[in-house]
Amino acid sequence: MSDQPLHPDTVAVHAGRSDFAALGVHASPIDLSSTNPLPDIVHGGDSYESISTGGHPLPEGGNVYGRLWNPTVARFEEALAELEHAEESVAFSSGMAATTAAILSHTTAVGKHHVVAVRPLYGGTDHLLDSGLLGAEVTFCEEGEVPGAIRPDTGLIVLETPANPTLDLVDIAAVVEHAEGVPVLVDNTFATPLLQNPLDLGATMSLHSATKYIGGHGDVIAGAIACSAQTAQQLRRVRAITGSLLHPLAAYLLHRGLPTLPVRMQVQQENARKLATLLQDDPAVATVFYPGLDDPRGIVGRQMRGGGAMVSIRLTGGYAAAEALTGAVRLFTHAVSLGGVDSLIQHPAALTHRPLPPDVRPGADIIRLSIGLENIDDLAADLTQALAATPEAASV
Ligand SMILES: Cc1ncc(COP(=O)(O)O)c(C=O)c1O
Repeated sequence: MSDQPLHPDTVAVHAGRSDFAALGVHASPIDLSSTNPLPDIVHGGDSYESISTGGHPLPEGGNVYGRLWNPTVARFEEALAELEHAEESVAFSSGMAATTAAILSHTTAVGKHHVVAVRPLYGGTDHLLDSGLLGAEVTFCEEGEVPGAIRPDTGLIVLETPANPTLDLVDIAAVVEHAEGVPVLVDNTFATPLLQNPLDLGATMSLHSATKYIGGHGDVIAGAIACSAQTAQQLRRVRAITGSLLHPLAAYLLHRGLPTLPVRMQVQQENARKLATLLQDDPAVATVFYPGLDDPRGIVGRQMRGGGAMVSIRLTGGYAAAEALTGAVRLFTHAVSLGGVDSLIQHPAALTHRPLPPDVRPGADIIRLSIGLENIDDLAADLTQALAATPEAASV
């Protein structure tokens, strides 16, 4: 084989499997051990010291304890890191656990007490930051306001692009340039590593709610952060202390799903692009939010390799139309979450973004669609019939 870098489609299939041949296996072995036999006190203790401070287990001391290290999780982490062009990745029990560790490790743990957060963000992330639970003071701002918001005690800048739920795009490289060296956390959940690699643009951490596209089948809750080896050490220390390691069965499912992530993303994105175009002509729809439709800075193409598979719409009939639409769809499931093989519909103001202060909560006339792998004609027909049943459209 030549030395040219492997295509991401190939990486998705092969990454994190380098020890399979030596183990004589073809699927990732699931290690469910909650504790591990120790060779002796000295070596076991040295390994404990290494892992509990965020390092790797020492070969002669073993993995010690299931809250500190798990080899099935480590294989998934290795695979995700390769897809994200990162030295390492760190997997957590949920996306929110990952966000919590990212904030704690860059604020309280290093004596910094301020975070700059670019809105919009996923409602849970916004809620966590706004709650004050983690002891950090937060300045919420828009992308252009980041330089003015940074203080000497700012430990972290948090942003999400495309952002949940209105698919707003943030120029990652521009934020990094104005960050004055402050670490930048990018929530890359909507784009996945296939469409966007924040670390290549200077970001410090690329975070995933792996519950979404990486899991892809609606059966795993998980989070992960791709980053440098040094940052991974800081994150693992917090993970070990606070107890938020991903469960090995979940890691197995995530690793098992990675090989199909590129084809899933490709088809789901194509379905979403076609639906976004179709919805623009529907009289029941006032605005279509889809990356690339309104993108004067050309972020899709420059920063993202496509618009992704999420579409949001503003309905001409307001909240009444939104309520009717969620009840009228037949193929789309009315449910929160996103990124799976089946299409979902939900009302952000009432659900995913409910905890937000009213002045920044998404409009009551906005509906979010996660586009799945179903046939595009079936999806289009379902949305068209459901939109025709909304009050505004029905009265036309
Ligand atoms: C963009 C984004 N980030 C983070 C999260 C939180 O992830 P989890 O639900 O896995 O904790 C979500 C969940 O919906 C999300 O949409």
